[in-house]
Amino acid sequence: MSHAEDHEGTRRDFLYYATAGAGAVTAGAAVWPLVNQMNPSADVRALSSIRVDISGIEPGTQLTVKWLGKPVFIRRRTQGEIDAARAVALEDLTIDATSQNANKPGTDAADENRAMDETGEWLVMMGVCTHLGCVPLGDGAGEFGGWFCPCHGSHYDTSGRIRKGPAPQNLHVPLARFEGSELVLG
Ligand code: FES
Repeated sequence: MSHAEDHEGTRRDFLYYATAGAGAVTAGAAVWPLVNQMNPSADVRALSSIRVDISGIEPGTQLTVKWLGKPVFIRRRTQGEIDAARAVALEDLTIDATSQNANKPGTDAADENRAMDETGEWLVMMGVCTHLGCVPLGDGAGEFGGWFCPCHGSHYDTSGRIRKGPAPQNLHVPLARFEGSELVLG
């Protein structure tokens, strides 16, 4: 067997095992990133981290950007939204009491552990419902004044914490940091 044929065989085996491990239904979606990570193109590497100019975002508004194929909500909260989020007792966070914040792993779901800054003005979250992945509606939607996913009725509060409905987790906060007037994701 030539070297090239041998390589082909190895690759087929890998795809087979990856497919078998991921299960038939999701194989297409699951295999692609596995293969892609093994041999990322320059484009993919460049997109794994993005910079967003946030200087034009007014209080009470939200910018949605696409990152790694998914929406990210960048919200500049009003004082009312911050106060509402911080007035919630931890005992009331009965569905998910963890921060789900990649920047502060292992912390509880207090708003201080979810916001990007101490004042709580900036909240950055993946715009992906933790139930089945729909994009929740924002701008005060839902019974808790934050985000609402109409797919199956999940209500998130002004800190993006799940308060009612089938979603099992708070909206995830991705790795992010400020650099001047820019937010760097990833
Ligand atoms: S996907 Fe959001 S409630 Fe089901």
